[in-house]
Amino acid sequence: MVKLEKAKLLDIPAMQDLVAQEVKDGIILQRSIDEVSTNIRSYVLAKDGDKVIGYTALHIHSPRLAEIRSLIVSSEYRGKNIGKKIVDFALNEAKEIGVTEEVLVLTYLPDFFKKIGFIEIPKETIPEHKIWADCIKCIHFPVCNEVSLVYKLGKRDE
Ligand SMILES: CC(C)(COP(=O)(O)OP(=O)(O)OC[C@H]1O[C@@H](n2cnc3c(N)ncnc32)[C@H](O)[C@@H]1OP(=O)(O)O)[C@@H](O)C(=O)NCCC(=O)NCCS
Repeated sequence: MVKLEKAKLLDIPAMQDLVAQEVKDGIILQRSIDEVSTNIRSYVLAKDGDKVIGYTALHIHSPRLAEIRSLIVSSEYRGKNIGKKIVDFALNEAKEIGVTEEVLVLTYLPDFFKKIGFIEIPKETIPEHKIWADCIKCIHFPVCNEVSLVYKLGKRDE
């Protein structure tokens, strides 16, 4: 049975293995073991028994803005609603922790996020420090086809 739980430092090697191909392909940004460790409280995992089969990180930028990062589901587990459950968990966490406005994502799969309720926004509106902290590390920088979308947290009260 697949369950969702917060990540622990011991999970990091399995997390790095899971994302290795997407990092190589430039779909997901490489994060060092130290960076993942520093932010370990941001991560939620999907596990099948003890096996890590998916995860994401909810990174908080400011009281009004958080970001979904590094979303991955193991290829043999895709199409079973696990990605959606992981994102839902992160959106609930954003709400619970008190993020007031929205959750951002930059992605090559906008249609997946649109299904969950995200809406596309112009790239020019994403926070500058995000670009300088993260995008600059990406193999596709500065010519990038990622799409920016946001989820409005107010929607979760409706
Ligand atoms: C994106 C990803 C996490 C989706 O995980 P998943 O568990 O297969 O997705 P789900 O089964 O939860 O899909 C939820 C819905 O989105 C749809 N969906 C899934 N992948 C999709 C895609 N690539 N494009 C469009 N819609 C998609 C599903 O059909 C489903 O729709 P439904 O509710 O109408 O049935 C997975 O494909 C993945 O790990 N991709 C590689 C890494 C990546 O690109 N991550 C995004 C970086 S931000």
